[in-house]
Amino acid sequence: MIFDVLTIFPEIFDTVLGSSIIGRAQDAGLLKVTAHNIRDFSMDKHKKTDDSPYGGGNGLVMLAQPIYDAYISIVEKLEYKPYFIYMSPQGKRLDQQLVEQLAVHKHIIMLCGHYEGVDERILEEIVDEEVSIGDYVLTGGELPAMVLIDAISRTIPGVLSNEDSYSDESHKDGVLEYPQYTRPYEFRGTKVPDILLSGHHANIKKWRRLQSLKRTRERRPDLYGQLVLSNEDKKLLDKDRNDVLRE
Ligand code: ADE
Repeated sequence: MIFDVLTIFPEIFDTVLGSSIIGRAQDAGLLKVTAHNIRDFSMDKHKKTDDSPYGGGNGLVMLAQPIYDAYISIVEKLEYKPYFIYMSPQGKRLDQQLVEQLAVHKHIIMLCGHYEGVDERILEEIVDEEVSIGDYVLTGGELPAMVLIDAISRTIPGVLSNEDSYSDESHKDGVLEYPQYTRPYEFRGTKVPDILLSGHHANIKKWRRLQSLKRTRERRPDLYGQLVLSNEDKKLLDKDRNDVLRE
């Protein structure tokens, strides 16, 4: 999977995405992230990448030309059109479902905006989709682009050392993850739930599923409302309710 990022701060991508799991995946050739400096494509003698908005108003707008030329420098060598995403608070809000939809593209170009935005003509001409990482406004699209690269990358087979750790986790099938414990058995007076030491794998699986369902119901009623509960899920929840009533 290839990610090309158009940004005025290319250096920050190397440090963040060069370390840990994403760094290792890049070393292993599973993905490649290249940050391109939009400023390198400026025709202005001061390497300007923005200007004041037509019609007046505060802030600066990013110029179309350096962005367009940076884009062309990437696609002119290709025989296909990569998927182009503009990171913007006005975009579609990112969730795990959108991550998985975007992960089907083998090559993604991302544009990181700044200031008051980007000249609309660039958006009309080359952007396939605008993506927001949440309903808040950041100072630039760099952190959002890194969030999206990280979220997509970890869905690529081989990026996580144990593939189960992707298929089992929060949001994957619309529920939150169950609680996890490791040594010691007792920490500040609280013991690990006995079921986890029983060695009974089927019961452990059921217990974990119940915890996931209860956690989702309590913390994310919005997600819980969209769940289609299996008969097995309903049985687990009924039994739990009866156990609680009996206590
Ligand atoms: N740029 C600024 N804020 C953003 C957000 N919430 N999501 C994506 N890009 C952004």
